[in-house]
Amino acid sequence: MGIPTETVYGLGADGLNPAAVAKIFVAKGRPQDNPLILHVPDDSWLTRYCRDIPEVAYTLTRRFWPGPLTLILKRKPSVPDVVTAGLDTVGMRCPDCAITRKIIALADTPVAAPSGNTSGKPSPTTAEAMGEDMDGKVDAIVDGGPCRVGLESTILDLTVTPPRLLRPGGVTVEELEELLGEIAIDPAVTRLLDSGEQPKAPGMKYRHYAPKAPVTVVNGDPEKTARYIQAHLFPTQGPPSAHPSPTGCPPKAHPKPTVGVVCFEDYVNLFPGVPVQSLGPKDDPKTQAHRLFETLRAFDHLEVSEIFAQSTTDTGLGLAITNRLNKAAGFHIIELKGNEI
Ligand code: TXA
Ligand code: MG
Repeated sequence: MGIPTETVYGLGADGLNPAAVAKIFVAKGRPQDNPLILHVPDDSWLTRYCRDIPEVAYTLTRRFWPGPLTLILKRKPSVPDVVTAGLDTVGMRCPDCAITRKIIALADTPVAAPSGNTSGKPSPTTAEAMGEDMDGKVDAIVDGGPCRVGLESTILDLTVTPPRLLRPGGVTVEELEELLGEIAIDPAVTRLLDSGEQPKAPGMKYRHYAPKAPVTVVNGDPEKTARYIQAHLFPTQGPPSAHPSPTGCPPKAHPKPTVGVVCFEDYVNLFPGVPVQSLGPKDDPKTQAHRLFETLRAFDHLEVSEIFAQSTTDTGLGLAITNRLNKAAGFHIIELKGNEI
């Protein structure tokens, strides 16, 4: 069943029923070695499924639950192997969505739920988007409206010291550090792993969030990255002026017809005639996170063979936005540090 959460829609099943959980993997086309998160209505359920729970887990749940934070803890034998992909740990999360917490409480069983997309695609942030991937594969999708956060939960591994960030999300590194002190960041968050390296969250090794067309991320100061993409799309225009205004005269040359652009709202005017999806204002990461997956999905309905995307900061929510964009691009990134344009 499709369930709404504050992050993304999930594909839920009874987390204690191996046959039901196995159906999730089939519906998504998900590799069997990628474990699922168990969703619970509150932190009193942790002791049912986890052992050796450190006190810091409750410090975190008191502050961030219900909310976009998944905790990796040692699991009890009551959790089926199919949920954890045979790992000795389990991901636990309490979604900030009253409907879903009520469903779980009434079912009186933890709900195993990955994001409700076909494996590899952007996660769905509306019931309609989930329907695109899961129509005919699930009995029902509970429509709770658009997801507030729009990116999947932050995953924090509490079985190691210091705690390790496995996936950035709606709860930021800065918020976690304020409460816990030092936290480590898994290398899979910020770069493509070498062939011999294994991420701690198995899912981080797969290409993900990808629209059909290949994506190139252009990272750096927003003004510069917008101008860089513009120069690439309108090659006959010549070099841009030294202090261009984003709302200045649009270029006259015809753009390459099949290139799409993901950019901040501030720069939409630079790309007349181009399929553009706006992430929202450049200084508004909440809106950017909220829109990101919808903008990527939108390109699957447009005739584009290539997509350029602006990306900017890796602090706060920006770390999660950049991580998802980089993964959508298979880490095909152009870094603009100097005077490239
Ligand atoms: O916001 C979310 O977390 C959404 C909503 C539906 O709750 N769920 C979600 O699930 O994003 P999924 O399956 O798409 O991503 C879960 C990630 C995967 O990368 C998986 O490898 C990792 O969590 N994971 C799950 N259990 C783990 C464990 N025991 N150890 C390490 N990583 C784990
Ligand atoms: Mg997912």
